[in-house]
Amino acid sequence: MQTRIGIIGGGPSGLCLARLLSLAGIKSVILERHDRAHVEARIRAGILEQGMVDLMRKAQVGARMEREGLPHDGIVLTFGDRVERVDFAALTGGQRVMVYGQTELTRDLYDAVLSDANISVVFQAHDVHPRGFLDGQPVLEFVADGQPRALACDFIAGCDGYHGASRAAVPRDMITEYERIYPFGWLGLLADTPPVHEELIYSNHERGFALCSMRSHTRSRYYVQVGLTEKVEDWPDDRFWDEIRRRLPGRFADKMVIGPAIEKSIAPLRSFVAEPLRFGKLFLVGDAGHIVPPTGAKGLNLAASDMYYLSTALIAFYQQGRSDLLDRYSQTALRRIWAAVRFSWWFTSISHRFNDEPIERKIQLAEFDYLMGSTAGRTTIAENYVGLPFDASFG
Ligand code: FAD
Ligand code: DHB
Repeated sequence: MQTRIGIIGGGPSGLCLARLLSLAGIKSVILERHDRAHVEARIRAGILEQGMVDLMRKAQVGARMEREGLPHDGIVLTFGDRVERVDFAALTGGQRVMVYGQTELTRDLYDAVLSDANISVVFQAHDVHPRGFLDGQPVLEFVADGQPRALACDFIAGCDGYHGASRAAVPRDMITEYERIYPFGWLGLLADTPPVHEELIYSNHERGFALCSMRSHTRSRYYVQVGLTEKVEDWPDDRFWDEIRRRLPGRFADKMVIGPAIEKSIAPLRSFVAEPLRFGKLFLVGDAGHIVPPTGAKGLNLAASDMYYLSTALIAFYQQGRSDLLDRYSQTALRRIWAAVRFSWWFTSISHRFNDEPIERKIQLAEFDYLMGSTAGRTTIAENYVGLPFDASFG
């Protein structure tokens, strides 16, 4: 087997990258460990920045997102009983975000990818090993249908998430990994109930953080901060609904509509960056190269800038014989990544309960007071939340 770009991972990064390349006539093969249903069922991101929305349009997979996605012009922040709204539109010159679930986005991408003549997908590809990427002759070895296979390619895109095979294949002395693990996780619940409010609510409460999000006008997504030793089995639906209502100001708690969970899961929180993101002919993209705690809704939106830079660089390579953009991929992508790592860490630090020391909450309250009383403070939240721009000089 042979192709131009060998892509490991059929999540949003691998799928969208393949589409962007295909529209420039560049063929690729995606190796995905699971099947389509499994990848589509993962309940993860819900908030798209304009940059990701634009990329979906560019990949010609944006039609349903345009119809069904919900544009949001602000978020609500609460501290105890205090309620404040951050108005993105007013603070950032009209910028907004879009509520559109990763499940839906992944489905749209698979619909396009599986009928795209330039893209092949191998599902249930096991034991994937990238080889030869430092010697100029990349090969992806893997097992499919019980048979060993090899895919020769010009470049490898490692789009296989935090636990994938691509970063693991890099010699340890060539990579530096920066990591922070937070002392809590998020317990998420999805329910077919109308959202408690028309905008997202990020709540700092003395019992811990809570987030009220949504997927549509009839489907809610809620999260509560939980200890690292907590198990989903310890959280029957009633316990979850009681806890989230206790963490919200009365005017929201009183009108929350509860119902049976469609899904419940616990996610750990981590900040992680690998440097660099290029190793010869192997490039890391999305969660394979970096993870942020979900508080700022940045994970998928960071994958978007990676996909944009790498697709632009590969298209310049094939269409104009240029390799300068491939050389600049890592440093350009990392600049935006570190900015989002900083914001996600900071937003987490001002909204979660880290310890039992009363001084922590007093300092958080002082910061909340300062931020909400200052246009500069509100603007820093707004412009980071809607997403920092891609580097326009890359191209
Ligand atoms: P992944 O989605 O992890 O996809 C990687 C793919 O590679 C998977 O399909 C996997 O099966 C496959 N794979 C892995 N290993 C191998 C292998 N060895 N061989 C072959 N295939 C392999 N982001 C936002 O932007 N906004 C949000 O609101 C948001 N909310 C979130 C909420 C939660 C609770 C969580 C957990 C995450 C959230 N994120 C959010 C982050 C977002 O979901 C991820 O950043 C995004 O999924 C990254 O996409 P990816 O394609 O890079 O990686
Ligand atoms: C969602 C997840 C987030 O991490 C976030 O900050 C906002 C929304 C969500 O799943 O809807």
